[in-house]
Amino acid sequence: MGKSYTIAVIPGDGTGPEVVDEGLKVLECAAKKHDFSLNFKHYPLGGEHYMKTGEILPDNVIGELRGMDGIFLGAIGHPEVKPGILEKGLLLQLRFELDQYINLRPVRLYEGVSTPLKDKGPEEIDFVVIRENSEGLYAGAGGTLKRGTADEVAIQESINTRKGVERCIRYAFEYCRNRNRKKKLTLCGKTNVLTFAFDLWERAFYEVAKEYPDIETDYAHVDATCMWMVKNPEWFDVIVTDNMFGDIITDLGAMIQGGMGIAAGGNINPEGVSMFEPIGGSAPRYAGKQIINPLAAICSTQLLLETLGEQKAASDIEKAVKKVLKDDLKDVAAGKMGYSTAEVGSLVADYIKTD
Ligand code: IPM
Ligand code: MN
Repeated sequence: MGKSYTIAVIPGDGTGPEVVDEGLKVLECAAKKHDFSLNFKHYPLGGEHYMKTGEILPDNVIGELRGMDGIFLGAIGHPEVKPGILEKGLLLQLRFELDQYINLRPVRLYEGVSTPLKDKGPEEIDFVVIRENSEGLYAGAGGTLKRGTADEVAIQESINTRKGVERCIRYAFEYCRNRNRKKKLTLCGKTNVLTFAFDLWERAFYEVAKEYPDIETDYAHVDATCMWMVKNPEWFDVIVTDNMFGDIITDLGAMIQGGMGIAAGGNINPEGVSMFEPIGGSAPRYAGKQIINPLAAICSTQLLLETLGEQKAASDIEKAVKKVLKDDLKDVAAGKMGYSTAEVGSLVADYIKTD
């Protein structure tokens, strides 16, 4: 028997549990084939749990998670819980506490999936966004004065530390080198307006770039990045950006790669424990209906296996996902798969078994 890994599973809210089930089905299958074992430890965190117990993310759970080999998360967000409580208290808290300072979001159009971009195909839509995941506007700095009065003041500050920015940029250069595709790294910022924050980003970017002479560097303002992602997505190879801009451009990225049903992401601490999730939300309206595409969750298990170093198993998952998209599913982007959530998971698992 090969290695053994302990993975924390947080199915979460809405459609999270049903897509996580399919991710687990595929993981089990890939592990069996490649002779390693996975021990799953389930945590019932999320909106339901919060409403029942008042508990969001207990300290002892954080402590246990630190000792895991990886975390697989479904979705966080509940219609009866005030916006912000679970997002900040659970999802962002996990990212921050575990110092998952990279949010890795591939934007890849697979064959058989339609994109709203005219005349663009899998060749043109294939890049990766590396979003800083620990600071920026997400750090929670700021405050409110005279709330509810006519003189109300709201301040929300973007925190950018040299250390935080540089470690993200360095990761992006390394990633770009290892990806070995166009070897081009684009910094996405707003140097013409956010002249403090992106001055720091820009200097760090070009200083680190000196250590990577094999990587071509480029810069685009965030608004222009949105434009180019639609007009000429083939210009991008790897994009590195701050937390807020990364959040926004990856929703756009998800749309051009065929929708939220296929977009996966990893919250990565290269020195610690990382957490993988489909990037679409909890979609409470569709919960339990078995109509949500589990491929985003399944693709995030591929990212999980990659970080565990189980490359062969990871690439088996990718191969199977590609085959299912090409041969089996109907119009994924339009939300018509032609199969239930569980059937899609089984299709992927069966291809892994028979391949
Ligand atoms: C994402 C989500 C989260 C974010 C929310 C739910 C806090 O939109 O993972 O992109 O803004 O990071
Ligand atoms: Mn988002």
